[in-house]
Order: sequence, then C-alpha cells, then structure tokens
Amino acid sequence: MRRSGIGYATGKIILMGEHAVVYGKPAIALPFHAAKIETTVVFHRGATQIECSYYKGDLANAPEVISGVKSLIITTLKYLKKPNKNVRVVIQSQLPAQRGLGSSAAVSVSIVRALFDAFHMPLSDDVLGKLVSVAEEIHHLNPSGLDATTISKGKPVYFDREKGKDDISLNLDGYIVVADTGELGQTRLAVTEVSQRLEENPEVMEPLLNRIHELTEQTRETLESGEIITVGLAMNEVHQILQQFNISNDALDRLVSTARTHGALGAKLTGSGKGGCMIALTRDYETASVVAAALEAEGAIQTWLYSLKEMIHHD
Ligand code: MEV
Repeated sequence: MRRSGIGYATGKIILMGEHAVVYGKPAIALPFHAAKIETTVVFHRGATQIECSYYKGDLANAPEVISGVKSLIITTLKYLKKPNKNVRVVIQSQLPAQRGLGSSAAVSVSIVRALFDAFHMPLSDDVLGKLVSVAEEIHHLNPSGLDATTISKGKPVYFDREKGKDDISLNLDGYIVVADTGELGQTRLAVTEVSQRLEENPEVMEPLLNRIHELTEQTRETLESGEIITVGLAMNEVHQILQQFNISNDALDRLVSTARTHGALGAKLTGSGKGGCMIALTRDYETASVVAAALEAEGAIQTWLYSLKEMIHHD
C-alpha cells in the first residue's frame, strides 16, 4: 500500500470547566498523550473510501455513526479543491471512543492533517479549527470548541469560547491518573440535559455555573503557584457540582470515591459524563500507582498515569 499522507493526534482531558464552558465560562484542559490516533491517506483509483473500527468501504455508504467524519472528509477535499474520489482514509486509533478523552475531535484533527499532508498543503491552526468544527457540530450538540482547540494545540489550554484560548503555566509536580469506567459517555445527551436543567431551573443552575467559573479561575492560579492541595479540593468540589447536574453516574462516583480513599488529593469525572472517564490528582508516582491499582480493582477497565511535569515538556 503506497502511503501518501499521514496525520497524528492525541486526546485531551478536562481538568476544570466541562459543561460550564458551553455557557461561556472558562475551562482548563490538558493534552492526553498516552494514546494516539494515526490517519493515513492512500491514493487509489475510484470512490473515496474509509477504513476505521466502525466501517470499511466507500465513504458514500458510511453509516450514521460516522456521519461527522464523512462530512469532514468531503469538506476538507472541497477546501483543498480536490475531487471527492481517488483517496482511501485509514484511521487507526488507540484512544478509546466516547470516553470523554476527545477521540472524536482527535480523529478529525488527524484526518485533516493527513489530507493536507497528502496534498502537500500547509495547514494553519485557524483552518484546522474551522474544518474540525464541521464534524464536532455533527457529533456534539453546540460544541464549545474546547476539545478541538486542546487537541490541535497539544498543550495545556485555558479556554473561553468567546475570548479563545490562552496558554497556562503549570508548576505542579503532581501526577494525574485517568481511569476508564468502560461505559460509553453520552455527550449529546449530557449537553442536552444540562441545557434543559438550566432552562427549567436557572436560579439553581446559574450559581453552580458561576461557582465552577470561580474554581476554574482559582485552579489556573494554583496550577501556576504549585498549590496542589487547592487544585485537588477544587476538583472534588466540581465533581459534586457535576453530580448535581446529573451527569455523573454510579460507576464514576465509585471510582472517584475509591481514588480519594487511596490517597488522591482530588478526583472528578472528566468530559461530558454519563459514562466515560474520571481523573485523580496525586502528589507523587507511588500514590498514583496505588490509586490506579485500586481503581482497576474497583472495575476500571483501563488506567493511565502521567506526570504533569513530563506532560509540559512533551512535544
Ligand atoms: C466535552 O468534552 C466537553 C463539554 O464541555 C462539551 C463541550 O465543551 O462542547 C461537555
């Protein structure tokens, strides 16, 4: 098979501000380098084809579940002024899908990068962001752009949907444990439910969203000043608020409380919730390993741990 273009992307985790970011509050997200997506574009003669874990065949007959990816490929080819034929797009992902780790945005980023690479076209962040939003708007309801921004950038990001992104400096020596409940997260449902709750109960929801905003601002400062205990406490409080939004579930709550009883300084769900992953913060590698083992014993199907320091230096 002749390889003609290649594009990579990794995932993201949201440290603070999921859901609130949809309503104009800031959020903090970190790249998740532990698992990678690689998309290859191969030239051939005939209809555009796609190969991924959900489907292999002509793009025109792709199932509904990958309709975002389908639109993205068509839009990107059009942007590149290329006909919608003669390419096969092969997606290989180590990033579990629908777990709040940004796999849909990461797949999109890797596809756009691979198509631009195949046609030897330079790709700016701005164009990448605009193209990726085509698929995100189909996968998600009213996406804030946080996932696409963090994944395109591959660095810790402070994000506001109105004001855009800003770099953050991390001066923490801690470790993050990410654990997968094995249950599929439900972004669309979770985003819809939060918006209904906000409409029906603004007097309850608005103060909670404002509190997430305050905790996100505080976390930005404490990540910089290295006050790890305060970061952990903020994670715990945000998890409690997300429980009130009804987007946590038993599996997430069980893992969050297991992490805390095994030495985590803070723990919360990450991403849209209703399944997917949780994260825990620990002071050192040894505690992170103990927490990861306890989470697996409690039913997590996979755990990853990484040092915040190494993540900053990751390129
Ligand atoms: C999904 O990864 C994060 C949410 O805040 C939705 C969004 O930002 O579009 C739940």
